[in-house]
Amino acid sequence: MWKDIPLVPENASTIATQVDLLYWFLVALTVFFVVLIGAVVVGLVAYYKKRDDGRKAVQIEGSTALELIWTGLPLLIVVGLFAWGTSLYVAMQKVPADAVDMYVVGKQWMWKAQHPTGVREIQDLHVPVGQAVRVTLTSEDVIHSYFIPAFRTKQDVVPGRYTQMWFEPTKIGTYDIFCAEYCGTGHSAMIGKVTVMEREAYERWLSGSTGEPPEVAGRNLFESMRCGSCHPVDAAVKEIGGAPPRGPLLAGLFGKEVDLQGGGKALMNDEYIRESILKPQAKIVANYEPVMPSYEGQLGEEQILQLAAYIKSLKGSP
Ligand code: CUA
Repeated sequence: MWKDIPLVPENASTIATQVDLLYWFLVALTVFFVVLIGAVVVGLVAYYKKRDDGRKAVQIEGSTALELIWTGLPLLIVVGLFAWGTSLYVAMQKVPADAVDMYVVGKQWMWKAQHPTGVREIQDLHVPVGQAVRVTLTSEDVIHSYFIPAFRTKQDVVPGRYTQMWFEPTKIGTYDIFCAEYCGTGHSAMIGKVTVMEREAYERWLSGSTGEPPEVAGRNLFESMRCGSCHPVDAAVKEIGGAPPRGPLLAGLFGKEVDLQGGGKALMNDEYIRESILKPQAKIVANYEPVMPSYEGQLGEEQILQLAAYIKSLKGSP
């Protein structure tokens, strides 16, 4: 319906309708009060315009009823809007359990995306219809913002940390991807297309390109960087080179809390892995020495994501 009226972008995700409902409610509310107040102002001016027909405005000096109405009514409205907006925001943060993981790295001035099978693409993103997708985002330089109007999702892409967004496309088609944060002279060119395809078409598209799954690339990196000379990936390994391992066992740790040196706990997630690779001294696991060197400058954001994917894939109990 809105396609022919360029007021709103296409509606192509599960949350788009809810976002639009809130948006149109805000517009309607604003229009209602603008018209109401405007009409009252104009009406009263016209009514009291003539001075000689005896019409006189009455001064109201204090009225509890009026005070209650014009305080209580706006309060109810804004609290209602707050509750509505918050519940929608919370729903938009809750990633469905069956979501597949994709990774997007922003860089002046392009979007580099990687699929679960390892297939990569630049600027564009292909996704299957009816499948929830969680996108983990980071930047190699400055702040960007990954914006897909048709899905009503927009998420800042920040250097030095991971942010996430998710969406479930509901409609086959091609939609815009914009960068929504001014990021330099090429900002306006930092655009792409998201293509929503039938599942079979998506599988065919995927198989048409080759690529290593991130966890496989991560394992290769893990081996070539010799991470295993300190970190066992198998609980059965009790010694490395005749001594107890110098780093914590990595298998089965993802998503769990670890005890830290000097008290406190940290949740083992992408963010923690990233920090431990770049700034190993920041959070030392209890009972280990701070001997790990920093890999800052040696590993790019994509490689760190691959290492995290590998560690995530390691099963077993720590
Ligand atoms: Cu990237 Cu604007």
